[in-house]
Amino acid sequence: MTIKPKVLVTREIFDDVIEYLKQHFEVTSNQSDTPMDAEALAKNLAGKTGAMTTLVDRVDAQLLSRCPTLKAVCNIAVGFNNIDLAACSKAGVLATNTPGVLDDSTADFTWALILSTARRVVESDAHVRAGGWKGWYLKQFLGADVHHATLGILGFGRIGRRVARRALGFDMTVLYHDTQPADAATERSCNAAFVSMDELLARADILTIHIPYAPATHHLVSSRELGKMKPGAILIHASRGGVVDDAALVEALKSGRVAGAGLDVFENEPNLNPAFLAMKNVVLTPHIASSSEATRHAMAMLAAQNLVAALTTGTPPNLLNPKQV
Ligand code: DGY
Repeated sequence: MTIKPKVLVTREIFDDVIEYLKQHFEVTSNQSDTPMDAEALAKNLAGKTGAMTTLVDRVDAQLLSRCPTLKAVCNIAVGFNNIDLAACSKAGVLATNTPGVLDDSTADFTWALILSTARRVVESDAHVRAGGWKGWYLKQFLGADVHHATLGILGFGRIGRRVARRALGFDMTVLYHDTQPADAATERSCNAAFVSMDELLARADILTIHIPYAPATHHLVSSRELGKMKPGAILIHASRGGVVDDAALVEALKSGRVAGAGLDVFENEPNLNPAFLAMKNVVLTPHIASSSEATRHAMAMLAAQNLVAALTTGTPPNLLNPKQV
């Protein structure tokens, strides 16, 4: 009988993905979905060769020093700021993420935030449910038009480009900013034009952010940037907490400089800045932009395939630290 490597799945995933993993590994899975703190994670990883982690599991040098048998950490997320790649490389641990499979769902959800924020869908739904609707009147829940507005996309990677393509049907002017311009064919297919960061902030009626979190992008949008936004613009954020300075955003919303915000990600999740909760012009969702049934399943399966490849061939498709390991 061959002894299968032992792996840990840190949070609840889909049953068929567990079954797939069981073909290759002895699987310990947390199907009760109890979040693990650093101590619990270290204890559960004892003797394991691989782990399927989520964005709330911190994989750093301290954890790795307690898990000498670990060879692979496969994140069920495209973002990997919960994993210290340098520490993984030093410990000889392969790290992977799940790029690509969530782009369309995240772009769809960005649009859900754009429309619900601009047209006050959540606020008016709450009004109706609370029995506040007494009849039709002309100035009821006046919102901002999305069609023919200027959409500013900060971060023009896979998701930003899909958000742009969805704007075609709304006859929008689409501007974007990134570290470098996209090629001409991509710009044409997205009907999008590259501008400087300051021009993007000054011209966008709706600014949507699609930037991964890293030390270099910490508070990329803070008081200075918010102060340069077109007065009355809307901000949409579905990338990663920490890219926006939430305290500065609260002030910009309070002052009216930013008219509304659609936010799926926050600093210090799930303990978001409480000021947001009192604001009617803010739509708040719990980091679910990729959460369609099909996409979350695809993310979990891709992470599982990465884990199988990492522990069998040593070359998983979505390896994040190829050279150093
Ligand atoms: C990701 O994949 O990084 C998402 O934020 C997870 O929902």
